[in-house]
Amino acid sequence: MSSDKKDFKFSKRASAYDDGFEGKASRKFYQLLQKEVALKPGMSLLDVGCGTGALLQKLCADCAFSAYGIDIKKAMVEQAKAKCPEMDIRLSRSEQTPFDDNSFDAIVACMAYHHFSDKPGFAQEAARLLKPGGILYIADPRLPFPIRKAMNGLLRLFRVVGEFFSVEETASRFSGYGFSLSGYAYDGYAQVVKLQKD
Ligand SMILES: C[S@@+](CC[C@H](N)C(=O)[O-])C[C@H]1O[C@@H](n2cnc3c(N)ncnc32)[C@H](O)[C@@H]1O
Repeated sequence: MSSDKKDFKFSKRASAYDDGFEGKASRKFYQLLQKEVALKPGMSLLDVGCGTGALLQKLCADCAFSAYGIDIKKAMVEQAKAKCPEMDIRLSRSEQTPFDDNSFDAIVACMAYHHFSDKPGFAQEAARLLKPGGILYIADPRLPFPIRKAMNGLLRLFRVVGEFFSVEETASRFSGYGFSLSGYAYDGYAQVVKLQKD
C-alpha cells in the first residue's frame, strides 16, 4: 500500500470481524462462491486476502483438496490458522507470494480485490500461480454504475485504498495478463467474476 493511503484497520478488527458488519455481509459471498467454485478432490485452492478463514472453512467442508490462504495482516492470519488448523495459511501480500509457478487449480479473492493496493501486481502473481486452464474467482460487491462511481470518488477523496468494478471492468483489468472472462454470477449485492488462465 502506498504509505500516504489509509486501509480498513483489519489488524484491529480481526477478532470481531466474523460477527461484525463485514463478516455478516460476507456470508452472501460465501454462499455464492460455494455454488460457483468448481473443485474436485485432489485440486489445490488459494484464498488471497483470506481474512479469518471463514470462506476456506466453508469451501473445504465437504471436499478433499489442498487449501491455502494468505493475508497481509498478522491478526487475520492468526484467526484463520486457529479456524483452519489443517490448512496452510501464511502472512503474505497478494502481489508477492511464497508459492511456486503453476501451483493452484483455483484462486479466490473474496471481498478482498478492491482492497489490494497493487492490483496489476496481483494480476501478474495470479497468472504465475495458476495452472493453465485454472480459474481465478473475484468476488466483490456488485454496485450499480452511479453508486460505484460515487463510492470510488469518495475513496479517492479520503485517500482510502479501495476501488469497485463491474464485471466488464474486472475482466479488462486481467485480460493483459492472460485471463479470459469465463463467466460471472451474482446474488443481490454479491458478484463473482470467473477468469480463466489461458
Ligand atoms: C474485507 S476482508 C475479507 C476477508 C475474507 N476474504 C472474507 O471474505 O471473509 C479483506 C481482507 O483482505 C486483506 N488484504 C488487504 N490487502 C491485501 C493484500 N495486498 N494482500 C493480502 N491480503 C490483503 C485484509 O487484511 C483483509 O483480511
